[in-house]
Amino acid sequence: MRLLVTGGAGFIGSNFVHHVVARTDHHVTVLDKLTYAGNLASLTGLPEHRVEFVHGDIADATLVDELFSRTDAVVHYAAESHNDNSLNDPSPFLNTNIVGTYTLLEAARRHDVRFHHISTDEVYGDLELDDPNRFTEHTPYNPSSPYSSTKAGSDLLVRAWVRSFGVRATISNCSNNYGPYQHVEKFIPRQITNVIRGIRPKLYGAGLNVRDWIHADDHSSAVLTILEKGEIGQTYLIGADGEKNNKDVVELILTLMGQDPTAYDHVTDRAGHDLRYAIDSTRLRTELGWQPTYRDFEAGLAATIEWYRQNEAWWGPSKDATEAFYAGKGQ
Ligand code: NAD
Ligand code: TYD
Repeated sequence: MRLLVTGGAGFIGSNFVHHVVARTDHHVTVLDKLTYAGNLASLTGLPEHRVEFVHGDIADATLVDELFSRTDAVVHYAAESHNDNSLNDPSPFLNTNIVGTYTLLEAARRHDVRFHHISTDEVYGDLELDDPNRFTEHTPYNPSSPYSSTKAGSDLLVRAWVRSFGVRATISNCSNNYGPYQHVEKFIPRQITNVIRGIRPKLYGAGLNVRDWIHADDHSSAVLTILEKGEIGQTYLIGADGEKNNKDVVELILTLMGQDPTAYDHVTDRAGHDLRYAIDSTRLRTELGWQPTYRDFEAGLAATIEWYRQNEAWWGPSKDATEAFYAGKGQ
């Protein structure tokens, strides 16, 4: 199969490309704009006859049309992905997440290409800490931030293109990912690289917000499963029962890195900060037979810390600008 992966030089997209090359015979073309979040170094070591890189924008209809004319399936990861940036300047979120997804859907329609859309559990808004329910495929959309609202908008476009134009699409909404190649702006790599650089970790507010962590490689195996066995028009939630509050995660990072677990700072909270996300992935597990591999968060986190220790050349160039951005916001 000829696969087109948008955003394949980003965190989860590059993990997916490595996963696909290792486990299938598919040929992969990566389409990526290489924004501040894209890094070609995340694709080094992959065989040239299996992976082609195309530098471009998903909102470039001419380029997208040419690529769709020579592809069997598309997995669409490209997005502006960081809530804090979306609070600072929402405009690229609208262009990439909404107009970019629309551009891809129009090409999928013209070329009748199988389309898988990658989304987030943040489209469902947040849960109370003591809510016994978790998000399911039937939870109403209720996004909080410019990021999550543009992701919600893109999901709704996909649903409309399935129903109105018969586009052969599926959607997955995944919880928070961790693992190698994640930009240092995000919570876990920011704290790991802070400790490596001798900076105290920064916790927003009291740190009681809960995220449902999944290793990026488990996200990749779930997406491949949906691509192979998913029912057209369906949405699948992806999660690995990994709920933890931010305070516990920071303290675990410090402990695993041999530091005093209380050596972190509470900083200005995020505006509109979602309290808790939690995924019920029963549909994916029972209907498609998917299971996560990384069931031990502490072991997965220790391996991730080791990756950042070994790969300062990969993350070092982004670190100063990221910390300058946060310092300007009191975070
Ligand atoms: P990321 O920011 O690390 O990577 C995004 C990639 O998209 C980058 O390589 C960037 O250069 C590229 N890109 C951005 N705009 C583009 C454009 N207009 N044209 C082409 N390429 C463009 O993001 P990520 O964390 O890897 O997230 C990937 C996808 O997964 C997103 O759709 C996100 O909403 C979704 N998601 C992320 C998480 C998470 O925990 N990070 C969880 C669930 C879902
Ligand atoms: P983040 O990685 O930005 O993912 P998301 O906003 O998609 O959940 O943040 C994860 C959690 O960590 C979120 O509750 C915000 C919090 N956070 C901090 O406490 N400190 C930080 O430095 C960052 C970047 C995030």
